[in-house]
Amino acid sequence: MINVSKIRKGIVIDHIKAGDGIKLYRALNLEKIQGVVVLMAGIPSEKMGKKDLIKIETDFDLNTDLVGLVAPSSTVNMIEDGRVSKKEKICLPKKIKGVLTCINPACVTNHQDVDKLFELESEDPVRYRCCYCDQVMRSDRG
Ligand code: CTP
Ligand code: ZN
Repeated sequence: MINVSKIRKGIVIDHIKAGDGIKLYRALNLEKIQGVVVLMAGIPSEKMGKKDLIKIETDFDLNTDLVGLVAPSSTVNMIEDGRVSKKEKICLPKKIKGVLTCINPACVTNHQDVDKLFELESEDPVRYRCCYCDQVMRSDRG
């Protein structure tokens, strides 16, 4: 199998559901990063059958809410000095700020400079509720 070397410093997003790696790559705008980024897709996995994985070898301010929205149940590993310094299992965010846009044209968040804030309404299907106008909507990021 193709082998990608370990990194000294950066972020490894592991256990991404097969097929979601490219969605996460796009959602995080990784094409704009100065530094090495690797997207591996379709890696054989005992637990998952197949999985995707992203390695980012640079300082990057990762929005874990966005990761949770696009790739829930992935694992974020922070790498420092060639070792995993922090491992975080990611789930669907209960609250999400500044990522989703309310679909209600009359909502105040679409007219004034206020924080866009949503709360998880249901997990299956994934739906969020706007904290300002109570509009319930699908997340279009998943
Ligand atoms: N990794 C890396 N560079 C490092 C350390 C780890 O690219 N310097 C990668 C590993 O290749 C792996 C992920 O980060 O894909 C997590 O590393 P590790 O916790 O060592 O692996 P596992 O124990 O298999 O992780 P888990 O228990 O979460 O499945
Ligand atoms: Zn709203």
